[in-house]
Amino acid sequence: MKVFTVVGARPQFIKAAVVSRAFAEHTSNIHEILVHTGQHYDANMSDVFFDELNIPHPDYNLGIGGGTHGQNTGRMLEKLEELMSKEKPDWVLVYGDTDSTLAGALAAAKLHIPVAHVEAGLRSFNRRMPEEINRIVTDHVSTLLFAPTSTALRNLKDEGFSDAKVRVVGDVMCDAAKYYGARAKIPSWFANLGFSEGQFVLCTIHRAENTDNPEKLANIFRGLEASECNVILPLHPRTKKKMEDMKLTFPRNVFVVEPVGYLEMVWLESNCDLICTDSGGVQKEAYFHGKRCVTLRDETEWVELVDGGFNTIVGDDPLMIEEALKTNTILSFDSPLYGDGESAAKMVNILVSGRYN
Ligand code: UD1
Ligand code: UDP
Repeated sequence: MKVFTVVGARPQFIKAAVVSRAFAEHTSNIHEILVHTGQHYDANMSDVFFDELNIPHPDYNLGIGGGTHGQNTGRMLEKLEELMSKEKPDWVLVYGDTDSTLAGALAAAKLHIPVAHVEAGLRSFNRRMPEEINRIVTDHVSTLLFAPTSTALRNLKDEGFSDAKVRVVGDVMCDAAKYYGARAKIPSWFANLGFSEGQFVLCTIHRAENTDNPEKLANIFRGLEASECNVILPLHPRTKKKMEDMKLTFPRNVFVVEPVGYLEMVWLESNCDLICTDSGGVQKEAYFHGKRCVTLRDETEWVELVDGGFNTIVGDDPLMIEEALKTNTILSFDSPLYGDGESAAKMVNILVSGRYN
């Protein structure tokens, strides 16, 4: 079986690391062609993950990044069509909801190559998010939908998908947290900050709805400042650029560092007091590492975390951010909300068995 995997953005490298290992460990002969679109290209947004997670070197790197949605997606589509026509895979595998996901799924569907979508069925019900458009279109042109949760399955059924197309397999990020959690690495700069373990807030901000709106970005930093917590912020390049363009400065209690590798991120997630983020993946990782999450968005796809009291949605309201960061709640993080950490093996078995239609 020949699988053509399309990745391009940071969270996709982490998800693909787990699935590529499952391909390599499977007893049948699976040939994976790994294609990096180039959407993320800085060393600390791309190379670091290939190096430390032992992801096979991409067979192709399209070098397409830094453009608008239309430019990126269009250029990727053209190159991916060419490569898929040449490689003639049995499956195209796409992850999540980025422009790379959409380009991979569309190129394959138009060539009549079966597409499997990992992390299918997620919905924010906010069509102003580029990710929501990417997910909906990707699901609707895919052949096989790997849903991480029963909520995702319900979303798909509500859109008319039949049971036969969907497999609830759990979340590959749970696999990643389990496997790499044991290999976590303390960042070299951590000791210099003088913080104790368990006494800092880990924060990430990169969502377009926040970074592209100076008022929202300023509100978020106002809330972080008012909390008086020690905040560590590994800064996404998009946010860095926007902060510079808007001439915004960081409050004194926010310690800005370069984006970290996944093993360092896992250490920070495991050793912080709580997590404050607008990331999709980091919300779930908070749960995997037993930390409360404060989400800097108006809604989330990961509703089970909110329902269980693990995640507080605060948007960009400074008062809500301050209060949520100061709240101390005892929670139990024992329910397997995202599967058993074996979701990659399940997906690979389904692909190999050919049991889908
Ligand atoms: C993308 C995804 C988003 C995902 C995120 C993960 C889309 C529409 N968005 O958002 O769903 O949550 O990745 O991190 O696909 N940049 C650099 N260096 C890099 C990467 C980005 O400087 O290595 C800067 C560039 O100015 C670039 C901007 O960030 O134009 C935005 O990058 P892009 O990949 O378009 O979107 P993200 O915000 O990273
Ligand atoms: N991550 C990382 N280093 C960082 C920030 C995030 O390794 O400095 C990891 C994080 O642990 C998670 C993934 O990147 O696995 C999430 O990516 P991101 O927040 O960029 O995208 P999203 O999940 O929102 O699509």
